[in-house]
Amino acid sequence: PIPLFTTVKAYREWRRRAYDERKSVGFVPTMGALHEGHMSLVRRSLAENDLTVLSIFVNPAQFAPHEDLATYPRTLPKDIELLMAESFNDTNTSTTRQASGIFLPTANEMYPSGISQDVNEQKGTFIEVKGYGHQMEGVSRPTFFRGVATVVTKLFNAIEPTNAYFGQKDIQQALLLKRMVRDLLLSHPDPEHVHIVPTARNPTTGLALSSRNAYLTTDGHKVAPTLIQALQAAEQAWGEGLTKAECVQKATEVVDATKRRAQAEGLNAEMKLDYIQLNDSQTFEIIEPQSSKADISHPVILSGALWIDKTRLIDNIILGDI
Ligand code: PAJ
Repeated sequence: PIPLFTTVKAYREWRRRAYDERKSVGFVPTMGALHEGHMSLVRRSLAENDLTVLSIFVNPAQFAPHEDLATYPRTLPKDIELLMAESFNDTNTSTTRQASGIFLPTANEMYPSGISQDVNEQKGTFIEVKGYGHQMEGVSRPTFFRGVATVVTKLFNAIEPTNAYFGQKDIQQALLLKRMVRDLLLSHPDPEHVHIVPTARNPTTGLALSSRNAYLTTDGHKVAPTLIQALQAAEQAWGEGLTKAECVQKATEVVDATKRRAQAEGLNAEMKLDYIQLNDSQTFEIIEPQSSKADISHPVILSGALWIDKTRLIDNIILGDI
């Protein structure tokens, strides 16, 4: 069985041995409800490190009071099973590697000064990455990245990983954390060892895998791929040299077409586009409506959020190489 560490102290004993044995430790932070997207991060870590540790912690600080903390899917036995089924064959050394441990802390362990979902009631130490958390996802979730940056700093301090792995699915999170690691002069991991892994998708529909997909009804699942289709329409328009405003329009039309089709087919799924946005991948600044590919030298993040009933899905495409 895979060892479970519920306290920092227990983990640190294990980590000390890894240091003594000069073994690299890959780290995959998660909130559980594991799926193929998480597993693609685990696979990368298994391939690139002697040891791999995963954390499962549903972090209260990144859920606003009205968000889904209480109902967020918790599937620990299934998560462990998935991890046990995953192994990496190192052909150089003819050894097989599996996940070495799961860090499963309580909220008290992670927040010794206590934690509230309400920012105004919080006491203790928090990390803010100024200037990078109010765009895209930060517009409708203003305290989200503060919660993420804080918990990931704590996790890095506890785990002391050689390498850490994040998904492109949450591109703003991954880039913001890379910046935080640089700003705070962290060394475990250092900025070069924070890796971004491509988004894992449903091979048939293209829908980005997400723990929140579990909330979708059958009809919701039928319309969910419209988000990536909308982004792809905008991507194509951007490639053809259209302005940002025109690209966003193309994406919006795709969602509108799906709404009409859903209504015609009598599907019971309410869709509401939260945003389609283009942002500079370095500054996260919003691209001007009249700008097109020719005006911008940096890669651009094309991102979107779509409500389906009470579930909010996000996805993105990077235009250019980051
Ligand atoms: P969670 O949503 O569980 O995601 C854990 C990691 O898996 C993140 O880096 C996320 O980007 C990645 N991931 C999710 N779906 C993916 C997909 N379809 N393809 C590739 N990677 C995917 O993100 C969090 O948890 C939390 O904010 C956390 C970083 C753990 C801090 O609490």
